[in-house]
Amino acid sequence: MSDTSSNQMWGGRFAAGPDAIMEAINASIGYDQRMAAQDIAGSRAHAAMLAATGIISDSDAEAIREGLLTVLSEIEGGKFEFSTALEDIHMNVEARLKEIIGEPAGRLHTGRSRNDQVATDFRLWVRDQLDAAETGLLALIDALLSQAEAGADWVMPGFTHLQTAQPVTWGHHMMAYVEMFGRDLSRVRDARARMNESPLGAAALAGTGFPIDREMTAEALGFDRPMANSLDAVSARDFAIEFLSVASISAMHLSRFAEELVIWSSAQFRFVTLSDRFSTGSSIMPQKKNPDAAELIRAKIGRIFGANVALMMVMKGLPLAYSKDMQEDKEQVFDAADNWMLALAAMEGMVRDMTGNRDQLEAAASSGFSTATDLADWLVRETGLPFRDAHHVTGALVALAEKKGCDLPDLSLEEMQAENAAITEGIFDVLTVQKSVASRMSYGGTAPARVREQVARWKEVLG
Ligand code: ARG
Repeated sequence: MSDTSSNQMWGGRFAAGPDAIMEAINASIGYDQRMAAQDIAGSRAHAAMLAATGIISDSDAEAIREGLLTVLSEIEGGKFEFSTALEDIHMNVEARLKEIIGEPAGRLHTGRSRNDQVATDFRLWVRDQLDAAETGLLALIDALLSQAEAGADWVMPGFTHLQTAQPVTWGHHMMAYVEMFGRDLSRVRDARARMNESPLGAAALAGTGFPIDREMTAEALGFDRPMANSLDAVSARDFAIEFLSVASISAMHLSRFAEELVIWSSAQFRFVTLSDRFSTGSSIMPQKKNPDAAELIRAKIGRIFGANVALMMVMKGLPLAYSKDMQEDKEQVFDAADNWMLALAAMEGMVRDMTGNRDQLEAAASSGFSTATDLADWLVRETGLPFRDAHHVTGALVALAEKKGCDLPDLSLEEMQAENAAITEGIFDVLTVQKSVASRMSYGGTAPARVREQVARWKEVLG
């Protein structure tokens, strides 16, 4: 008989139980209980396979599978008592199963190890998160498409170096983010396809002598195939790191957009009005309406990318196969996933609710000599001037306008002709911001007609 103070799972070898500090550093149940549903799904698939291959009896498998459902409902109902002494979710579930169904519970762990078990559970968990990210990204893209469609021809300043560059359209700006989040979506899908292989049946590291059927468990759990190398199956965590990389890139995109919304919603810009639902007030300054959601989204990249780096560091230099270091994978991924999903949802809500201030956007677009390039292009097109010379003439006209404190269209024809005699009245046609954006008809350009084409294309792609 094993000592009751020693571990009930491996008491045979141990005379004494662990020190309290050992238990504290070793236990993962505080967080890996989040994988309970995945653990039970994996065990149910394993038990069914053990019966189908004749390794255990049908009646034992039936008792195990039913008992596991009872355990799941206890956990979901908040009635389960998690024990730190039992280390992790795998042993907590198995110990409770034994209390419920007795002896057959001991047969569940045949031809399996916690190493392939945890790898399986974690893959299933991450796969669910990739699916959630797909849903979140699609919703955000949908919100951006609505904004782009409504404001396909609203003119706003386009910036480089955050200095006024050329007029662009609101729809074009929204569609730039659709492209970014669209690539995030394709990364999510790629990652999911690559990670969807089953580690179950790799056992501790070498496979097993029991005649298991890995295809069967893989299929039952929705995996495309079993992993081909048992050492790799239990020691690979690149699927989790890839998840964190994809999340980091997406969080970086979210952060850029969030920063723009912070700037745009300021009193100095007033490009957008954020809804009350996604803003907060100040406890001291009554006039304030703060873009807290945008600011927090902007910050989320910090912890998400931090998790990515942390897990890379945990995994670097680990010899094959499993090492307990790998238990440190979960908290990072859980935290990053929670915050990525939250950031996606908050951004979607903000984008759906926000109002672009069309007049203010247009007024801002007209300032800062934003049509200077149009003027230079006109000189090239209409007078045959080389672009470099046209650039010089335009620069002189900008300097003149700046000196006079007016915009380019406010200069007189005579003033223009003093710089270049070939200039005619026709030049005024290209100096308005509307004409400027309408002329940008090159593929991918900012012209409203092009933006509408892209909105239509994305709607078709997304179905
Ligand atoms: N809680 C462990 C983890 O998360 C499960 C695997 C334990 N395997 C072992 N050989 N001790 O990694």
